[in-house]
Amino acid sequence: MERRVPPPSLAERAVSTGGSVIREALALTARPEVISFAGGLPAPELFDTDNIRAAYDRVLSESPHRVLQYSVTEGDPGLREAIAARLSRQGLPSHPDDLMITTGAQQGLALLATTLLNPGDVVVVEEPTYLAALQCFGLAGARVVPVPTDDQGIVVDALATIVARERPRLLYIVPTFQNPTGHTLPAERRHAVARLAAEHGFWIAEDDPYGELRFRGEPVPWITAHEEASDRTVLLGSLSKVLAPGMRLGWLRAPVALRRACVLAKQSLDLHSSTVDQAAAARYLTEHDLDARLVPVKAAYKERCDTLLTTLPHVLPEGSTWSRPDGGMFVWARLPDGFDTAALLLDAVTNGVAYVPGAPFFAGPANPATLRLSFTTHHPPEIDRGLKRLAGVFHAGHRASGARGAEAGPAAFSSAGT
Ligand SMILES: Cc1ncc(COP(=O)(O)O)c(C=O)c1O
Repeated sequence: MERRVPPPSLAERAVSTGGSVIREALALTARPEVISFAGGLPAPELFDTDNIRAAYDRVLSESPHRVLQYSVTEGDPGLREAIAARLSRQGLPSHPDDLMITTGAQQGLALLATTLLNPGDVVVVEEPTYLAALQCFGLAGARVVPVPTDDQGIVVDALATIVARERPRLLYIVPTFQNPTGHTLPAERRHAVARLAAEHGFWIAEDDPYGELRFRGEPVPWITAHEEASDRTVLLGSLSKVLAPGMRLGWLRAPVALRRACVLAKQSLDLHSSTVDQAAAARYLTEHDLDARLVPVKAAYKERCDTLLTTLPHVLPEGSTWSRPDGGMFVWARLPDGFDTAALLLDAVTNGVAYVPGAPFFAGPANPATLRLSFTTHHPPEIDRGLKRLAGVFHAGHRASGARGAEAGPAAFSSAGT
């Protein structure tokens, strides 16, 4: 053969922006000496390991042929039944047939992007928002339009103006203990969002992986519980933060026609989520009281969050602001103008501490002075040690000169621990 013709390049949507200072710095956070507030990980020592192992043992010894076999795309009937019963108890009457099991809530997002979005369609999102959702909508070729938020979440007047102008097909929203801000949308705003969806005719993806991690205050009804939006809201849930993310189990609750489309889309992705993991999760949920299990987890997260919140005023430069979450995993901070948290990340890692710079969570122009801190994975003394190191970094007079110019789009991150 004289000449080899090179293969075609990657599809446009798969072309990432290449190397990244942030990605390199975050890769270093895995070093044991680094106290990392970066990952969005549940505390591993609080996994209910013995009971999860027992659930796997039981299903594998009692029905190995079933749980090691292919299974239906909609998901394990027992697991759907257990989740529907949980939702119903929590005030959202649900039937197992309203649900399909997904490979993490992340797959639910991908299924919605596939079934609802044509290239060029508009998706409106909170600003800032979960960065892997931005990646997902970007890969679908959607135009993502940010909506301003305040310390209670999405600003309804701004949403009303933007949906009238942009005519979106979808609103993506994390109303409870949002990632990255930790904010929770109050009940009246949820109702207003539902009314806007009815009035303007758009879908809502209500993503709720953190709602069960409330350690203060009272639960707020889901958007989908409002009658106005019940025919156009998809509730995405996950076992990642309450059981174990490694099981990769989530679910979506959607109106029937959309759910059927998602089932077909899922067939093309992975046929079904792991049979044995679903069976073990179903077994676990029927044999154990998850609410009771979560009591010590929430107590630990509260203590860790409070440690962070008590110490932050001594750590962040004067003029900084930060969120005070009632649950979930994240605190969001905004340093005074002029700071560039992406540029400071390498210094932080060199000093043995890490966080996620805020920029990648923005769909529009980023505020470079923002950052996300996760409080879940360290005990209070370690949190204090990590924050002392962070204080050193922020108070060393490192005002951003822009010299480092760390690029920080969603592609600057790999996915583990989002
Ligand atoms: C807002 C949000 N949605 C979805 C996910 C994905 O969760 P899962 O592990 O269920 O795929 C995450 C994970 O961090 C998240 O923060």
